[in-house]
Amino acid sequence: MSLNEFSSIMVIFGGTGDLTHRKLMPALYNLLFEKNLPENFCIVSVGRRDKTNESYRNEVYESIKNFSRIELDENVWKVLKNKIYYQKFDFHDDNGYTHLKGLLSELDDNYNTNGNRIFYLAVAPEYFELIVEKLNEHGMVENNRSWQRVMIEKPFGKDLNSAKYLNKKITEVFREKNTYRIDHYLGKEMLQNIMVIRFANVFFEPVWNNKYVDNIQISSSETVGIENRGGYYEKAGALRDMVQNHMLQLITLTAMEPPVDLSTESIHDEKVKVLKSLQELTPELVLKNAIRGQYKGYREEEKVKPNSDTETYVALKIYIENFRWAGVPFYIRTGKRLPVKSTEIIVQFKPLPGILFFKENGGLTPNLLVIKIQPEEGVFLQFNAKKPGTSNKIIPVQMDFCQNCQVGSNSPEAYERLIYDALRGDSTLFTRWDEVEYSWKYVDKIAEVWRNEKPNFPNYEAGTWGPIEADKLILKDNFKWWNIGGSNNENL
Ligand SMILES: NC(=O)c1ccc[n+]([C@@H]2O[C@H](COP(=O)([O-])OP(=O)(O)OC[C@H]3O[C@@H](n4cnc5c(N)ncnc54)[C@H](OP(=O)(O)O)[C@@H]3O)[C@@H](O)[C@H]2O)c1
Repeated sequence: MSLNEFSSIMVIFGGTGDLTHRKLMPALYNLLFEKNLPENFCIVSVGRRDKTNESYRNEVYESIKNFSRIELDENVWKVLKNKIYYQKFDFHDDNGYTHLKGLLSELDDNYNTNGNRIFYLAVAPEYFELIVEKLNEHGMVENNRSWQRVMIEKPFGKDLNSAKYLNKKITEVFREKNTYRIDHYLGKEMLQNIMVIRFANVFFEPVWNNKYVDNIQISSSETVGIENRGGYYEKAGALRDMVQNHMLQLITLTAMEPPVDLSTESIHDEKVKVLKSLQELTPELVLKNAIRGQYKGYREEEKVKPNSDTETYVALKIYIENFRWAGVPFYIRTGKRLPVKSTEIIVQFKPLPGILFFKENGGLTPNLLVIKIQPEEGVFLQFNAKKPGTSNKIIPVQMDFCQNCQVGSNSPEAYERLIYDALRGDSTLFTRWDEVEYSWKYVDKIAEVWRNEKPNFPNYEAGTWGPIEADKLILKDNFKWWNIGGSNNENL
């Protein structure tokens, strides 16, 4: 398919915001640099601040210089610059949409974009419904001769009910196939690689089940706190900000069955089956298997209540009740102000029978497969080998494949892939409605129990691995959290 079949205008609501400047514009620049944008393409950014096309373009220039993974090339910039327009209006203002519609139709003539649109909602969630409704009222959606797609940032709702309501409002205007719900983790190189590693290697797939796997640990840690996002984070917390979307998506990709083919629907079908198989949570199970934490100092952050009970850390023990995974615990943990920034999946394999080396050497280190998602991308395999020399000592040795350590490696940013796919009409790396729905169903059960229980916050020091209860959660099963990001886990 030629790129020119995707001729279109991308309208970015929230064009003056942080996401647009730090991620979207650099992504568009990199796509153009690598010849992955159609020739007939332009961008209209909407914001409230007073700007001319010229002043807005100058700001975008600075953002690309600061945040693009590929150094700014003036010749490429010249091409992109002439494709960028700015419109100032408040999302409530009908006149604004009328002018926008006029501008888009003018640009259709200039750029041959045929009425095709991507509406990117890089705005706070309270505006999702309003903008979608206004686009519809102003006749900017579902024109039979062209296509219109909507890209929606997370969070998609704050619980199951609000997500259902939002989804209803969106599907009144955009069909499911034109709705691109973003979970930017899915655009990351190594997430796409999980399926390849699992299903393209004979030495992984046959042992990827409860016969050979002892437990799976999925960790996503950040060293930063909430920075200046207190207003948002107070309402979300780690459960809604990380677990409902990124962490459960990581579980689905790690645990899903091989899809019948690589079509979008087949992959989503398998992911949904995992979410449907999550162990039904009772309040007792939540109290036993869900740990929350808050770092010391969180309550002093800007826009945070002095007695806030918002969690900045979550650890869960999860069971997937299907034939492949029955009995295998999945431990997940995510938090802010932890010792390293890292996202990793660690598959711990079962020990071999307690004879031969196991009898003589006692507990050997288990075989581990580590899939490193970020910042380092790669795969790490730990297995046992004889220590060179006269003794019969057995030691763990490692094979470490680092994808992004090689000289010249410069993996595309998640947003590049996501914009590119939305342009091509491929929604594989976006979340289908039923994935959102089942994730909220699961997370709501935890949130409900936590709402009714006063936590003992704050309960961990910044720079440590979270509350001690998270260690106990795993230690009582005779496992331990493995080091991630090359760190030493001081809690162990
Ligand atoms: N920032 C990130 O790295 C990041 C990462 C993942 C997801 N997200 C999600 O992306 C969305 C945007 O985040 P952000 O960090 O870019 O937010 P932000 O910096 O606060 O930007 C908000 C944008 O919305 C515009 N806006 C707000 N109210 C408006 C109104 N009534 N009429 C017209 N424009 C209005 C602002 O325009 P003016 O400033 O001109 O008023 C600004 O362009 C959020 O849903 C967030 O959760 C962000």
